[in-house]
Amino acid sequence: SDPDLVARAAAAKAALGTKVFVLGHHYQRDEVIQFADVTGDSFKLAREAAARPDAEYIVFCGVHFMAESADILTSDRQRVILPDLAAGCSMADMAVLSQVETAWDVLTELGVAADTVPVTYMNSSADIKGFVGRHGGVVCTSSNAKRALDWAFEQGRKVLFLPDQHLGRNTAVLEMGFSLDDCVLYDPHKPNGGLTPEQLRDAKMILWRGHCSVHGRFTLDSVNDVRERVPGVNVLVHPECRHEVVTAADLVGSTEYIIKTIEAAPAGSAWAIGTELNLVRRLALAHPDKQIMFLDRAVCYCSTMNRIDLPHLVWALEELVAGRVVNQITVDPDTARHARAALDQMLALPG
Ligand code: 13P
Ligand code: SF4
Repeated sequence: SDPDLVARAAAAKAALGTKVFVLGHHYQRDEVIQFADVTGDSFKLAREAAARPDAEYIVFCGVHFMAESADILTSDRQRVILPDLAAGCSMADMAVLSQVETAWDVLTELGVAADTVPVTYMNSSADIKGFVGRHGGVVCTSSNAKRALDWAFEQGRKVLFLPDQHLGRNTAVLEMGFSLDDCVLYDPHKPNGGLTPEQLRDAKMILWRGHCSVHGRFTLDSVNDVRERVPGVNVLVHPECRHEVVTAADLVGSTEYIIKTIEAAPAGSAWAIGTELNLVRRLALAHPDKQIMFLDRAVCYCSTMNRIDLPHLVWALEELVAGRVVNQITVDPDTARHARAALDQMLALPG
């Protein structure tokens, strides 16, 4: 990265001292992650944001839904800044509040809403988290989805899982003993989600038709191909991958889990990793004694995570030094109150 920008970022951070706390998601660019005070998966970053009451400014190097969650979990006095407002998440955009309200109306008319617990993946807008909080549900991340679902099934007989069909299906089928037939796919673009009343009544898991376009690129062929090319390779994937990919993999988990697994792996072992490329490249560089490769032959960055680059970070920090807050992320108080209930429920999950 540009040495002048590196020096400017370092100077601005030093000038701000403990007033600023920089959080960095594991998918961030190297040039940005070097300035993070803490790195983590989305669960760890939510907890870290909540645990920094002294920082006046939280600069969130990640995507919009993470910054919104940080705003909800921090005090009113603290300001959360996303260095580039275009850093969204295409998966989060796949569930819009009006669509979810329509789905809930469908379940209400069928008489099953009272027995349905909404669960949303962290990768969703504050509006969706607010909806879930209003209806007694919980937020989950890729590191606690099973615990969140266990809790949800103690509250009701059915779960509406938003917005990632893959995390929902993979957790229910591979970790909780549900069958594929227990899950149905609700398409928000079709009347009644494209499902019959019987399907909606009988399903245990109603999965929203959302997915991550980055992880969606890994296929069963990617797994078979790498196993053929690299005998003995361990396949380690994120649960946002398709069901057949996760089923064929050796290990599955959040970004934090992926890092810990590689750190604990013996020298000489070979790993094909199915997640975002910035993280895989960093792991390969940090562990030259292990053979670490990307699961697919094609490159696969998350384009919105990559929007946060060093020029944007420098700009946001230097503006703070000048006393100006740019790109602040705020959630309206009513939405925040309900979203907070669903986030607090997640933070209170046992284990
Ligand atoms: P983690 O919670 O595993 O960091 O995942 C966040 C994400 O956006 C993955 O695509
Ligand atoms: Fe969203 Fe996928 Fe990017 Fe994660 S990797 S932020 S789910 S688009």
